[in-house]
Amino acid sequence: MLSIQTAVSAAYVVAALLFILALAGLSRHDTAKAGNTFGILGMGVALAATIAVVVDDGAQASGLVLLAAAIAVGAAIGLWRARVVEMTGMPELIALLHSFIGAAAVMVGWNRYLHVEAHPDGPAARALDAIGLLGIHAAEVSISVFIGAVTLSGSIVAFLKLSARIKPSPMMLPGKNVLNIGALLTFAALTAWFVLAPSLWMLIIITALALVLGWHLVASIGGGDMPVVVSMLNSYSGWAAAALGFLLRNDLLIIVGALVGSSGAFLSYIMCKGMNRSFISVIAGGFGMEAPTTTSGGQDEGEHRQIQAEEAARILAGASTVIITPGYGMAVAQAQYPVAELTARLRAKGINVRFGIHPVAGRLPGHMNVLLAEAKVPYDIVLEMDEINHDFPTTDVVLVIGANDTVNPAAAEDPTSPIAGMPVLEVWNARDVIVFKRSMATGYAGVQNPLFYRDNTHMLFGDAKNMVEEIAQALEPVRS
Ligand code: TAP
Repeated sequence: MLSIQTAVSAAYVVAALLFILALAGLSRHDTAKAGNTFGILGMGVALAATIAVVVDDGAQASGLVLLAAAIAVGAAIGLWRARVVEMTGMPELIALLHSFIGAAAVMVGWNRYLHVEAHPDGPAARALDAIGLLGIHAAEVSISVFIGAVTLSGSIVAFLKLSARIKPSPMMLPGKNVLNIGALLTFAALTAWFVLAPSLWMLIIITALALVLGWHLVASIGGGDMPVVVSMLNSYSGWAAAALGFLLRNDLLIIVGALVGSSGAFLSYIMCKGMNRSFISVIAGGFGMEAPTTTSGGQDEGEHRQIQAEEAARILAGASTVIITPGYGMAVAQAQYPVAELTARLRAKGINVRFGIHPVAGRLPGHMNVLLAEAKVPYDIVLEMDEINHDFPTTDVVLVIGANDTVNPAAAEDPTSPIAGMPVLEVWNARDVIVFKRSMATGYAGVQNPLFYRDNTHMLFGDAKNMVEEIAQALEPVRS
C-alpha cells in the first residue's frame, strides 16, 4: 500500500512542477493568468502534503488546532491585503512579504539550534551524530539564520524607503565596502567556530551581525536603484527558503527556494542591464558606487511652455504618428482607461499610435504593461524601450503621461547626473512632446528634468486622468 511518505514525496514533485509552470506562465502577458493559477495549485498541493506529514508524524490535536489557526489567520490577512493593496503600493507589500520569509528562516534556525545543538546529549543531537551530520546541521543553522536575518532587516529598510517612511537617498558610511566584507568574513569565521563548538552567544552574534549587514546593504542603495533591490531581496528570500529546506530535510523547500532565488537574481540582472547599473555593485550594497555629485536640481533650467487640453488635442489631430510613454503618474491617476479610450479614438482617425515602455517605469517590474492590459490596450502596440527608441526622430507627437525619470535626457547627456548612464526613452527627438504632470516637481530619483525646458516640449499641468479625458472630449469636434 502507498505510504504517506511516498504520497507526500509524489505530491512534492507535482507541486515543484506546478511552480515551474507558474514561472513559465508568468513570463508572458497572455499566459500570466494561467501562470498564477499553476502557482496557486502548486501551493495548495504543497500545503496539503505538509499537513499530511504533520498528521503522519503523530501531531497532537492541540498542535493541529494551532496549525489550522495559523493557516486561517495567515490566509485571512493575505486575502485582505491582496484585495485592498493599490497597484502603486505593491513593491512595499512585496518587500514586507520578503521580510516574513527572512523572519521564518531565522526562527526555524533558532528552533533547530534549541532542539539539537543546545542539547548535545538529547535524542535529536545523538541521532544526527550517529550518521555524522551534526556538524553539517550546525553549519545549516548558522547559514539559514544569517541569510534569513539579512533578508529580514534588508526587506524592512526597503519597505521603509519605498513607503517614504525614511529618506530614499543612499547612506554613505565611510569605508562601507570594508564593513560589508568584514561582516562576511566574520560570519564565515563564526560559522566555522559554531560548527566545532556550537554555543548560544555565537548564534546571537551571528543573528545580530546579519541584521546589521542587511540593514546596511539596503540603506546604502539609493532610491533610483530600489527596483533592483526589491528583486534582489526576492532572490535572497529564495535562498533563505532553500537554506531552510536543507535544515528541515524538505526537498520542496529546496527546489522552490532555488527557483525563487535564481529567478530573482536573473530579474535583478535584467533590471541592472535596463538601468545600466553594475549587478555585482547593487547586490553588494552599492559596492564601488560614488555618492551623486548633483541632487534634486532646482538649478535654473530656463523657461517652460504650458498648454491646455484643447491645444494638445489640436497638436494630436494634426499628427500621423504618436508614441505614448506612460510612467508612475499614470498609475497614480488611474489614467489607463481614458488613455486606452484616447488611443482608440486616435487610431480610428488613422493615426499610428504606439506605446513605449521603460523597464523600470512605475514602481514595479511590468507595472505599465499590467495597467495597459487591464484597460485592454492591444498588446501589439505596446513596445519595450529597445524596440521603439530609434523611432522617436520620425514621430510627430509623444505623450509623456506621468513619466519623469524614464524620459530624462540628463541620463544620456549629463555625466554628473545621479541617473547618468541609465538608458531612457529618447522622447525629446520627436517633433512635439506633451508632458502630463501636475507641477514641475521631480520624479522618484529626485533629479531635475531638462526635458521640460526644451523648445519642442509643452507642459500640460493637471491630473493625468482629467487631462486625457479633456483631450479625448476636445478631439470629438475634430472628428465630426
Ligand atoms: P517618476 O520619475 O517617479 O515620475 C512620475 C511623475 O508622475 C512625477 O514627476 C509626478 O509629477 C507625476 N505624477 C504623479 N501623480 C500624477 C498624477 N495624478 N497626474 C499626473 N502626473 C502625476 O516616474 P517614472 O518615469 O515612471 O520612473 C520610475 C522611477 O521609479 C524611476 O526612478 C525608477 O527607478 C523608480 N522605481 C521603479 C521601480 C520599478 S521596478 N519600476 C520600483 C521602485 C522605484 P507631479 O508630482 O508634478 O505630478
